[in-house]
Amino acid sequence: RTPEAAESVLPGGVPDRVLVRAPGKVNLALHVGPLGADGYHELATVFLALDLVDDVLAERAESVSVHLTGEVRDDVPLDESNLAHRAATLLRDRSGITEGVRLTITKRIPVAGGMGGGSADAAAALLACDALWGLDTPWDELLALAAELGADVPFALTGGAALGRDRGDRLEAVPASGSFHLVLVPSEDGISTPKCYRALDLLRQEGALPDPELPLAVADGLLAALAEGDAGALAAELTNDLEAAALVLRPDLADTIRAGAFAGAIGGVVSGSGPTIALLTGSREAAEEVAKTLRAEGRAALVASGPARGAHIVNDHELD
Ligand code: C5P
Repeated sequence: RTPEAAESVLPGGVPDRVLVRAPGKVNLALHVGPLGADGYHELATVFLALDLVDDVLAERAESVSVHLTGEVRDDVPLDESNLAHRAATLLRDRSGITEGVRLTITKRIPVAGGMGGGSADAAAALLACDALWGLDTPWDELLALAAELGADVPFALTGGAALGRDRGDRLEAVPASGSFHLVLVPSEDGISTPKCYRALDLLRQEGALPDPELPLAVADGLLAALAEGDAGALAAELTNDLEAAALVLRPDLADTIRAGAFAGAIGGVVSGSGPTIALLTGSREAAEEVAKTLRAEGRAALVASGPARGAHIVNDHELD
């Protein structure tokens, strides 16, 4: 079923269905500190939200359930472990209501791809349920709930371009000019985020990688390139501490980065914990060309631009 009326309203002013769109992300820089006592690593990261988006439709129901549109996929759990399910349940329990919700996700962001797809679904579910249930939760509280759900969920709410600290969930918006145009090369087999962080810890313990330089810092040059809309300068600044770990888990990803460069990308990096490769280009046209070349080689390739909006309610007429 396709999401239909987003704004149809029941008597009494509450909507009977709400459709929310939330962005995938890439990390333009991802500096990972040592493993903390809480099982998380301290991060200094720069997020860029992309117009590669998932949609979540929330409809009135007695209990919480999650469904997917389109093809059946066995790599997305639909039970209580689904992050959108957890988001709805968390918001319901904290606000003390007894209603349920039927959530239908239209997935476009690669699953377990290092692009924050599950986080986008969680952010969308939070916002959609908040509107469906007429809760009017203050933005700061939504952000706090988002951080409980996962390190990348707050950014999926805010979108744009942001510096992330602590677990990546303490956000500060950073200026960005114009748009940056990327090609994303997803892989069929995802990499689990904890597995990638563990691989990095092991590489550091073995001395195969140096310990992180503390305090963690994002290069001024990267922030300047973002602020100036300078894709060439940004390409030279792309960096990801998790890349070495992702390449140990998936050595073939190095070929994908090389293939991107041959196809005309000006920079390439593993996105988050991988395995998606993010390739930077100088224009949307250049991105389309790079994607075309990669597809001709039998690789999957998605074109996306950022910064894009954070999670937001969409109405029928805005749907593509
Ligand atoms: O917060 P999220 O559920 O996305 O994180 C998944 C896992 O990734 C965590 O349980 C942890 O193992 C790892 N992680 C980490 N440091 C971070 C973010 C995530 O070690 N800053």
